[in-house]
Amino acid sequence: MTRTFKVVCLEGDGIGPEVMAQAIRALRALSLGIEIDERPFGGPGIRACGNPLPPETLAACLASDGVLLAAVGSPEYERAKVRPEQGLLHIRSGLGLFANLRPVRAAGVDVMIVRELSGGLYYGRKGRTTDGMAFDICEYHPWQIERIARRAFELAMGRRRAVTVVDKYGVLETSKLWREVVDEVAIAFPDVQLDAMLVDNAAMQLIRDPSRFDVLLTENTFGDILSDVAAVATGGVGLAPSASLAENGPGIFEPIHGSAPDIAGRGIANPAAMLRSTVMLLSYGLGRPDEARRLDDAVDEALRTTPTVDLGGTATTAEIAWGGHWPRRCCSRTVKQTTSRPATS
Ligand code: NAD
Ligand code: IPM
Ligand code: MN
Repeated sequence: MTRTFKVVCLEGDGIGPEVMAQAIRALRALSLGIEIDERPFGGPGIRACGNPLPPETLAACLASDGVLLAAVGSPEYERAKVRPEQGLLHIRSGLGLFANLRPVRAAGVDVMIVRELSGGLYYGRKGRTTDGMAFDICEYHPWQIERIARRAFELAMGRRRAVTVVDKYGVLETSKLWREVVDEVAIAFPDVQLDAMLVDNAAMQLIRDPSRFDVLLTENTFGDILSDVAAVATGGVGLAPSASLAENGPGIFEPIHGSAPDIAGRGIANPAAMLRSTVMLLSYGLGRPDEARRLDDAVDEALRTTPTVDLGGTATTAEIAWGGHWPRRCCSRTVKQTTSRPATS
């Protein structure tokens, strides 16, 4: 008997619902009998119950096989006390997510950014002092570094066997600890070449020659910034997916981009990052590598034949994901399909 997968979908804000609709269509088209559970999160959570992560939403995620998340954040909450983005930090800690894998692919480029997701500035002590100063402390325990470093080396073993640890060594105490722990972990992986690079240089090298990296391992904030840099160097954030994984239990699969309020509601967002995140859900979350490959190929083909506005084309969000031949391309094992641009209304 085939197992029914349970996937929670969190569309969030801005372009979130627009790109999520295409991911849900793709999942349904795969006919895997996936049970889709759509829940409020971010702005919709705040409007429903004053909480960007309603307890029922977290419970549904914990009981699922994987979570698809589009994006949160809205100018509506710019100065509000409760903001959609807070839900993102809470859901990451609620699911125990610590390994954020952000693949960056283009012709001749295949980098895996391994971003630590549970520590650093995001989760360190923060606040205001009586004399008006504000602080966010960057904090890391050795065990947090060790588990993400191990994950990076394991990934490198299945790739080109090179890890670059990126930090601000020489200035930051946390960077010194990172290098000590990463050096220790590296001993168990003698076949993997380890080198280190300062974060400012890494930003430049990602633009200049991203092909020099295999696995790029870094802490939370640096990984957030460098992944946007790398995405732009290889086609834009509209193309860049991610998987946020725990030691055990469901992961979250989400584009690296945000809710893009500047283009929300116009139907022109590129759904590729969301669809590639769905590919990561299929492979990492549901253990369905064949369907993952078929969907990935379908996305590549759609981008080639019907590029979206951000890529200099004219295709809308729905056209790229649903352009006439999409369902067959994604669902049948027959690779050869017509590739002409579909006539759309
Ligand atoms: P953003 O990633 O939303 O947008 C940056 C630029 O990229 C914009 O010009 C936008 O139009 C463009 N863009 C993003 N996604 C696109 C897509 N799929 N197709 C085409 N163009 C796309 O970053 P921002 O504007 O700095 O942030 C907007 C909001 O999103 C903020 O509230 C921020 O906190 C939030 N945010 C959320 C997440 C998340 O949910 N994971 C990630 C980043 C930012
Ligand atoms: C991302 C986002 C988030 C992050 C924000 C919205 C909290 O930028 O997922 O890349 O910094 O992790
Ligand atoms: Mn980001």
